[in-house]
Amino acid sequence: MDKILIKGGKRLAGEVTITGAKNAALGIMPATLLCSGTCVIENLPDIQDIKNYVIMLKKLGASVEKKSNGDTIIDTSTVTADNISEIEEESTKMRASYYMLGALLSKFKDVRLPLPGGCDIGARPIDQHIKGFEALGATVDLKSGFIHVYSKRLKGANIYLDVVSVGATINIMLAAVMAEGVTTIENAAKEPHVVDIANFLNLMGANIKGTGTDVIKITGIKRLKGCTYSVVPDQITAGTYMIAAAATQGDILVKNVIPKHLEPISAKLIEMGNEVIEYDDSIRVVGRRPLHSIGIKTLPYPGFPTDLQQPMGVLMCMADGISTIAESIFENRFKYTNELIKMGADIMTRNNVAIFKGVDRLYAARINATDLRAGAAMIIAGLIAEGVTEVCELKHVDRGYDNIVGRLQALGADIERVDE
Ligand code: EPZ
Repeated sequence: MDKILIKGGKRLAGEVTITGAKNAALGIMPATLLCSGTCVIENLPDIQDIKNYVIMLKKLGASVEKKSNGDTIIDTSTVTADNISEIEEESTKMRASYYMLGALLSKFKDVRLPLPGGCDIGARPIDQHIKGFEALGATVDLKSGFIHVYSKRLKGANIYLDVVSVGATINIMLAAVMAEGVTTIENAAKEPHVVDIANFLNLMGANIKGTGTDVIKITGIKRLKGCTYSVVPDQITAGTYMIAAAATQGDILVKNVIPKHLEPISAKLIEMGNEVIEYDDSIRVVGRRPLHSIGIKTLPYPGFPTDLQQPMGVLMCMADGISTIAESIFENRFKYTNELIKMGADIMTRNNVAIFKGVDRLYAARINATDLRAGAAMIIAGLIAEGVTEVCELKHVDRGYDNIVGRLQALGADIERVDE
């Protein structure tokens, strides 16, 4: 089992280039199943979740080839419905395997897979995905941990989401893109990755309008064609390095980003007293002291992203006075605070609120990455702690961060990955 060792206290400085967004790429990979032709995907992150999707596409019969320039060529024209049961194992390893349901329903009108896995951060129901599939005319059976979705034909419908759900919005788009007639998704998610997946589908010939607003209109078309597409930069990875700069009193230029997508994070870093300078496609963060206490409430985009509350929690440990996080998306995303308490943090959690009382320093400990973003938080905590921190349970970190150890080393961190 690998672990990460970090000798804390190094100030991070330099440049880091952000790769494509995990949560956009995870919708784009299954979307390639919908075209008859070849797609060239640029800027795919090199992470375990994407490798898992590559395995699933290959098992379904697709050819997937990574070129020396980093582009990934995906030809799904040889995919047949015969092999869907072959991807059961991989689909339990990650949350985003639920997009296979929408894509394969659209392509073959019949798909049966185990319920998805992923980070343990709350109940994570998929009732809104099911509501969408049923509205399009599909029958959905949930039995023995499997979900079976099938239909003779899919027909456009008006779908109002009871909660703003990224996954349901994307899954309904995938299922509806070739349905007959017009589908409207109301109360849709507005995250940059929702827009990016729609941009990809539109480049393949789809007719999706309104993404980035809460009403999305999809006019079904008969056939999609291959295309070349570059995945949008990862807003959450960028935010992670911005927070690492602030935590280490560093000075990092985060390159290949869309600063507009980072506004909720920039605003909070500035409120704490850090310096944030925006350029066209990069953003510089200079960590300052003292750090002022702040309050955060996680919300769907353009609110503060739940995926960054955990790294932000580490920064709150170093701020003067009392800071708070109200987590309104996932009910169980504070497990990481127990790990920070082992390092000397003063944190109290009550239901969906965490209260952070600033401390002078954190002390190294052996800590676990309890989920993906908790892993990033543990690494940032290790960067500022006194002594050598051991971060264990790296499987979640590997699912979502492209070479985080190498990137932090290049920024001056004393960090290495070792085999225990
Ligand atoms: C996506 O998860 C992301 N995952 C998550 O990223 C991210 O935290 C989350 O969106 C919120 O931004 C992927 O894109 C693969 P939701 P998803 O559906 O789609 C409730 C990361 O670290 N809900 O937007 O699962 C749900 O319980 C991760 O990269 C229902 O009630 O999130 C939650 O309270 C982890 N019924 C809220 O909606 C449903 O059918 C938002 O969830 C669906 C969701």
